[in-house]
Amino acid sequence: MLRSLALLATAVAVRFVVRSGRRRRRHARVEHLLTTLEHAEELAGVGFWEMDVRSGALKWSEGLHAIYGTDPASGAPDRVAFFEMVHPDDRRAMRDVFRRLSASETVVDITFRIFRRGELRWLQARAERKVDRRLGTDHFLGVTRDITEEHRKTEEIESHAHELEEEVRRRTAQLDATNRELEAFSYSVSHDLRTPLRSIDGFSQALLEDYGDKFDADGRDYLQRVRAATQRMGRLIDDLLALSRVSRSEMQARPVDLSALAQQALQELREQQPERQVECVVAPGLTATGDPTLLGMVLHNLLGNAWKYTSRHSTARVEFGAREENGQREFFVRDDGAGFDPAHAGKLFAVFQRLHRVDEFEGTGVGLATVARIVHRHGGDVRAEGAVERGATFYFTLPGERAR
Ligand SMILES: Nc1ncnc2c1ncn2[C@@H]1O[C@H](COP(=O)(O)OP(=O)(O)OP(=O)(O)O)[C@@H](O)[C@H]1O
Ligand SMILES: [Mg+2]
Repeated sequence: MLRSLALLATAVAVRFVVRSGRRRRRHARVEHLLTTLEHAEELAGVGFWEMDVRSGALKWSEGLHAIYGTDPASGAPDRVAFFEMVHPDDRRAMRDVFRRLSASETVVDITFRIFRRGELRWLQARAERKVDRRLGTDHFLGVTRDITEEHRKTEEIESHAHELEEEVRRRTAQLDATNRELEAFSYSVSHDLRTPLRSIDGFSQALLEDYGDKFDADGRDYLQRVRAATQRMGRLIDDLLALSRVSRSEMQARPVDLSALAQQALQELREQQPERQVECVVAPGLTATGDPTLLGMVLHNLLGNAWKYTSRHSTARVEFGAREENGQREFFVRDDGAGFDPAHAGKLFAVFQRLHRVDEFEGTGVGLATVARIVHRHGGDVRAEGAVERGATFYFTLPGERAR
């Protein structure tokens, strides 16, 4: 009996030691978890809170106290004290968060402002209602982060972007005004040059007609050259004036049947030179939105070039079509004529830039500049591909932007 009592006492004592050892270890584990949580909180710059829905008891973590600048020793603030810290303009949204949390178990997010000891701070919070039916608990849980620095940076970036936009708008307006002035200037200069030029040509003609017999052959040849040069200069001026009109004219934005315009341009070219053997291919049904007159000029110039630069070949093929390039529709005019050195493809769209001599193919070098200007005014782009004696292809896009 005594032995069994002693045995029982030993068993109880052993169990006590084991149990208290387990409790100590569990306690140490909880302590460790809490410290880790605090470290994690500090590292992430976040704070946690938890509220028992039934009793209203509220707990704030150390991290949350740090965010709000409150003293952990005084515990979590009550509802009134909490709402006093929230910026007056954000209080309604905060009340709404609690209303939504009470209504369901969904996650609720809010960005709001507080006054931390008088200083405005931006916070971001996410909260959720957690009901654990097994443990019989019902809690609101939340995590809060101070995003003041991020917010400040975003505001700075936005304000810089705004300033930049303003600057771009201001400079574009300046540039537009300068362009308009230049355009007006070149228009009036070109216009004024026409009159003296007409006199030079007219008096040279009068000299030839009335005093031609007083000159020897060289003298008459010189006068003929003066006339030829003035006439060419007259054409250059006319083309410049036409180019200037392209930029100054009002633009319409209407559906335009490009295939029909191309057919018409080719018909005119054929009528001017019916003897030429040119196979003309026009893809049917190509339409775009833009100014009908200006787009007609684009096709006249491009098809006129294709017609002209194939003229030294006994037969030729000229094509107007469209294709998809990087998801965008590109129209093109292609020929199998003289072509050009691709190294100079970029120059072709500048005024007076020519890759062929006037005695080879006549022209002033304004046609492609006109094309580029019209296409750019429509918000599109132009480019050229070609090789010497292997033809040329001119591409353009028309994104169908509104008329500017
Ligand atoms: N289809 C083409 N094939 C080969 N070269 C071309 C073609 N189209 C244009 N070019 C080259 O580009 C240059 C510029 O063309 P642009 O149409 O501006 O001038 P142009 O045809 O010489 O004169 P115009 O002002 O009368 O049109 C031409 O002089 C020519 O060298
Ligand atoms: Mg041309």
